[in-house]
Amino acid sequence: MNASNIKIPDKMLAVRQYKAGEKLTVESIDVPRPGPGEVLVKMAASPVNPSDLKLIGGGYLERSYPFTPGLEGSGTVVASGGGLLPRLRMGKQVACTPDPKGDGTWAQYMKTSAMRTVPLPPHIDPVQGSMMLVNPMTAMAFIAMAKTGKHRAMVNNAAASALGRMLIRLTGQYGIPLISIVRQESQVTELKNMGATHVLNSTHDAFETGLTRLSGQLDATLFLDAVTGAQTEQLLRAAPRGATLVAYARLSGEPIRVDPGDLIRDEKRIIGFQLGNWMETKSILYKLRFINRVKKQMGVALTTRVNRQFPLEAVESAISLYREHMSDGKMILLIEKKNQ
Ligand SMILES: NC(=O)c1ccc[n+]([C@@H]2O[C@H](COP(=O)([O-])OP(=O)(O)OC[C@H]3O[C@@H](n4cnc5c(N)ncnc54)[C@H](OP(=O)(O)O)[C@@H]3O)[C@@H](O)[C@H]2O)c1
Repeated sequence: MNASNIKIPDKMLAVRQYKAGEKLTVESIDVPRPGPGEVLVKMAASPVNPSDLKLIGGGYLERSYPFTPGLEGSGTVVASGGGLLPRLRMGKQVACTPDPKGDGTWAQYMKTSAMRTVPLPPHIDPVQGSMMLVNPMTAMAFIAMAKTGKHRAMVNNAAASALGRMLIRLTGQYGIPLISIVRQESQVTELKNMGATHVLNSTHDAFETGLTRLSGQLDATLFLDAVTGAQTEQLLRAAPRGATLVAYARLSGEPIRVDPGDLIRDEKRIIGFQLGNWMETKSILYKLRFINRVKKQMGVALTTRVNRQFPLEAVESAISLYREHMSDGKMILLIEKKNQ
């Protein structure tokens, strides 16, 4: 597709929210115009992620209302606001994320910094491509953390998630033993069927003793915790001496209470992880190599199961179905239909 041939309309459909926690609307609003260093992306697809639920629930990321949600997606760059990178991106199919306080991906067009776009590998379709920048990068970052921290094995909870499944495939490839934790028995079987060796159910009475034994045997000293709250306390108690617990989400919504003895006596530590902050600490060269590694794994270990696709207008249905079936694959907002 030649981007210069694309006529950009004055108006577009966009999902809008007027107040945190309130219902979303789909409205016709002005198409934004990119400024220097920015591009305009004609959006193709965008998933509903846990971070989107947090964002529309309020109190997660700062936004001025009304705003358009959606924290990642894919599309075609159809206009440049000027500058070398925006010009290089013209006409490219990209994965993209919004600017920190900007309008998001749940719209027909999104204006964003060219730095927040990554060209899609040719073998990746817009739907898989719309999910390239959050979970795949995070899964690869966790592998990098395991390697640089010389951790022999790792533990991950909420493990039937898209990210949890990527970690199962990646750790299999890299030869790093992984203990996956879920809260439903059906998911134990499901994850084992997809190749997971160690899967524990956190609702079992023997969960904590089982985790203590297994993490000791495997010398699992990297604990990845998306649930937090009471589960963090269990993980910390079960972790071997010197282990690092990485809090990377707060799915339980609970605060963490920690026995200081775990930290003082057993030299365990808790750190936070946010992909954007982690990437910020890396050099340009590291980032380029890292993104290339992610691209190579797209469609291999870094594949995301899709549950259903919805038009933008059905955003509320996509969200409510997603809330009920988070482990069953992503709900995708298919914004640009073929031949549109
Ligand atoms: N910090 C970062 O930079 C970063 C980056 C990427 C992802 N993340 C986080 O990683 C997590 C996984 O993301 P995803 O997109 O892969 O998720 P997903 O595929 O949408 O699945 C969400 C998972 O969370 C589980 N879950 C929800 N509430 C839970 C609770 N209270 N206790 C235990 N499990 C619960 C669900 O399990 P059930 O089937 O049992 O409901 C489901 O497996 C999310 O929390 C996301 O925010 C963080």
